[in-house]
Amino acid sequence: MTETQDELRIASSVWNLRYEVKPSDLLTIRKIVESTGFFHSYEVDIAVELVEERLRRGNSSGYHFIFAENDSSAGGYVCYGEIACTSGSYDVYWIAVTKESQGCGLGRALMKLTEERIAASGGRRIYLETSGRTDYLPTRRFYERCSYDKAAELPDFYAENDSKVIYVKDIRKT
Ligand SMILES: CC(C)(COP(=O)(O)OP(=O)(O)OC[C@H]1O[C@@H](n2cnc3c(N)ncnc32)[C@H](O)[C@@H]1OP(=O)(O)O)[C@@H](O)C(=O)NCCC(=O)NCCS
Repeated sequence: MTETQDELRIASSVWNLRYEVKPSDLLTIRKIVESTGFFHSYEVDIAVELVEERLRRGNSSGYHFIFAENDSSAGGYVCYGEIACTSGSYDVYWIAVTKESQGCGLGRALMKLTEERIAASGGRRIYLETSGRTDYLPTRRFYERCSYDKAAELPDFYAENDSKVIYVKDIRKT
């Protein structure tokens, strides 16, 4: 593992980085994810369940988190982990930046940090999954701007006319 980075400086903002998960993160993550205004309430519950699982099982949950915080609140977070039964293939399960902190580079910085940590753990490839629906266009653009390639699209996966789009990046090539 490389040395753990403890802050991100983006324009005039300084974000403290935290890698440990605390019981209060059940609320932290609910707040971040709800603030985006992007997810249904059942999706918010799923984001929180990953923290519950991490708190219950620790590292063996397979879920790793990075939080970016300032003195008053959390601006964003990532949840990622190695995909079961693979060697070096990782999923980024969630990445979210609060509405008020979006568009300033925090999402990109969190993604880059995640890639560095995965690479330091011996990871080779990172996968991202999202919906092909029009309302997920901003999410897909974000992934593309972070140099993820569309690897597959599975029609009607989530529902009729709602495909699953899978993005990948080979982090050994970056
Ligand atoms: C997607 C998300 C994490 C991006 O975070 P962010 O801090 O706003 O993104 P950044 O400011 O770092 O932008 C990085 C790049 O993505 C692009 N991008 C970000 N949001 C975008 C949007 N809504 N539409 C188009 N492009 C977008 C930016 O233009 C930038 O590219 P550039 O630097 O080449 O111009 C954030 O908007 C978010 O939390 N959205 C809701 C939740 C979500 O969709 N999560 C992903 C699925 S779990």
